[in-house]
Amino acid sequence: MTSSPGAPEFADSYLVEVLTEFGLALKYVRARGNTLYYLADDGTEVGVFDAASGFGSLMFGHNNPEIVEHAKWLLDQQTPVHAQFSGYSFALNLAAELNAVIRRELQTDDKFFALFGNSGAEAVEISIKHAEMDRGARIAELKAEIDTHVEQARTAVADGARLSADAAALVGGADFDLLAAEVARRNAQTEARPPLFLALEGGFHGKLVSSVQLTHNAEFRGPFKALAAQARFIPRDRPELIAKVVEDERATLLDITVQDGVVDLVERDFPVFAAFLIEPIMGEAGIFPLSAQLAGALREACDTIGVPLISDEIQSGMGRSGTFLAGTQIGLKPDYIILAKALGGGLAKLGVVLVNEHRYRKDIELIHTSTYGRDGFSSRLALKVLQMLEAEDGKAYQLAAERGAKAKAMMEAIKADYPDVVREVRGVGLMLGFELHDQSNSSSPEIREAVEHEALAFIIGGHLLRKHQIRIFSTASNLETMRFEPSIYLSDEEIARVDAGFRDICQILRDQDASRFE
Ligand code: F0G
Repeated sequence: MTSSPGAPEFADSYLVEVLTEFGLALKYVRARGNTLYYLADDGTEVGVFDAASGFGSLMFGHNNPEIVEHAKWLLDQQTPVHAQFSGYSFALNLAAELNAVIRRELQTDDKFFALFGNSGAEAVEISIKHAEMDRGARIAELKAEIDTHVEQARTAVADGARLSADAAALVGGADFDLLAAEVARRNAQTEARPPLFLALEGGFHGKLVSSVQLTHNAEFRGPFKALAAQARFIPRDRPELIAKVVEDERATLLDITVQDGVVDLVERDFPVFAAFLIEPIMGEAGIFPLSAQLAGALREACDTIGVPLISDEIQSGMGRSGTFLAGTQIGLKPDYIILAKALGGGLAKLGVVLVNEHRYRKDIELIHTSTYGRDGFSSRLALKVLQMLEAEDGKAYQLAAERGAKAKAMMEAIKADYPDVVREVRGVGLMLGFELHDQSNSSSPEIREAVEHEALAFIIGGHLLRKHQIRIFSTASNLETMRFEPSIYLSDEEIARVDAGFRDICQILRDQDASRFE
């Protein structure tokens, strides 16, 4: 028996089964602006307002005509897509344009070297590799100093210096060669330790082997713990815990000193941590913008520990917050910036890490590559996206701020009318979160059961889709928060539709009447 093409027989069968349960499985056949279209049973197109918008990848909407036109033109031009190892590429133009924008926003003349990948998570992985190279270089510097000290001590011993009591005790005698061997043995053990990363509780940095270990959600991270370096997670409202975590993980290398003819041992701090990764607006956590105070504390902590501060702007960046980088609004001063999602204009797949020149390890250029990484098509398309963002004095940023403020005011008004149902409205620009109160103590057994099975968010999503033609999902790690990230072309009519849909949900929850969920 053959199955019909497009049936979930050979892929996504389980996913489709789960989505079907909530009426969320649909086949969209066309997309334009903020609208996705599916075919009704009678064959007519039904438009759905897409508030998810690729979870932040569609600043200019689905199939933006200007971007589509440019993509066609690039292909007509026979743009070289694959020309690896030729030195020059369109990615260099893109890197230059990205520098112009981020140097303006960060108010710095520092250069940022760009490393390109194929997706958000891949760009995060590149940043992890780069940070580990940086740590490796810091370890090498420390070891070189220790090696010099050991040789200086050897010469001093030949000239009559003696071992301190502590040094002699370590090897059970006053033998310098034994001491040097023991120091080398112990240091090698410490150096073999895998690195650690710092990240924020609730943070999301992708789902590849290494990046998923920096993603806090235990469901995503847990099964793969054994595969990659681990993170220590800090609550975003407790930056004072950073110092404690660093102290708990402290490791040292042994160094040798010679003073007044006595050879002694000292401990030197070993670079345990490779980097601190954060999102300036935490997306998956439930749309939590970081405070300016935290931005300052993170910078200070990274300077103290000696690790790069990596700002993951994959979801919040590219103008969504009203500025190119969301971090700009809180005065964040990162060492690396990661962009993806909207960089490709909704059509090309690419991600980039921009590394401050003062922390850049150029060797990575020869040892990290990928077939489609920095390809001509996506580089030139991203250049077009940047141009569109910057056009007319940054009109796109202003639209994100203005449209976002209008949508946020709509949500705030609902919260004022339904304080018993709506817990909080959060976010900046077109990255908004609409959080409902926890319903686990609902008087309705159906609603209570739905919460217990983590199904309420799906039920609400299904209702909004079917009854109001709104496509919206909760964030993955905060199921009470609906994430609103449409394009800058958000219309008043679309805002009104969401207003009606959200109010309907609020009234159902106020009445605790699950029978009205469609
Ligand atoms: N970092 C952040 C902050 C993200 O929001 C995402 C993806 C990634 C990294 C990974 O990027 O999907 O291109 O590999 N977030 C999507 C979401 C999946 O659901 O919010 P990717």
